[in-house]
Amino acid sequence: MTKKVHVFNHPLIQHKLGIVRDKNTGPKEFRELVEEISKLMAYEITLHLPLSDVEIETPVTNTSVKRLSGKKLGIVPIMRAGLGMVDGILSLIPVAKVGHIGLYRDPETLEPVEYYAKLPEDIGERELIVVDPMLATGGSASAAISAIKKRGAKNIKFLCLIAVQEGIDKIHEDHPEVPIYTGALDPGLNEKSYITPGFGDAGDRLYGTK
Ligand code: URA
Repeated sequence: MTKKVHVFNHPLIQHKLGIVRDKNTGPKEFRELVEEISKLMAYEITLHLPLSDVEIETPVTNTSVKRLSGKKLGIVPIMRAGLGMVDGILSLIPVAKVGHIGLYRDPETLEPVEYYAKLPEDIGERELIVVDPMLATGGSASAAISAIKKRGAKNIKFLCLIAVQEGIDKIHEDHPEVPIYTGALDPGLNEKSYITPGFGDAGDRLYGTK
């Protein structure tokens, strides 16, 4: 199985990511930028979608136009920081359904524990994009992917703003069929498992809780 990591080198994504990383960027601008970056990433990640020809009438004559014809899409944010990426993607793909996965880390085992899952009923027929701004250790991302697979998901992509190799390896090991899309590959994690240089705690920065 090919293990795929795609880094979006689009200049707008890279420029906006640079502002997101700045500690002086406040929650309002941070949220707006995460939304804009997610929208740009949604554009890139949907380049492969199949089209079919449909006959329509314009006000002038009959003609053939293109319509999306492949699988329907679904977005699955990992709560809470993943929520910050949803509106940007939905602005381009308004018909996508949104499922939610909530995970916390057990303080003793340090393993992710699911506390919430609400997913589209037809999850098995959808092409799913699991979103979380940071792919750090990969524990939550891998557990979230397992949780949706358990409920029938078959076609999954993982989308983040910043990833490190440890998280990529974890997803590749547990879910080798899941391609990973990211805005940047950072060098590693610090002693508190924050991505470095990263941009700190994505949830706190999105929602001003710090
Ligand atoms: N989650 C975050 O929000 N930030 C990190 O740096 C790592 C995980």
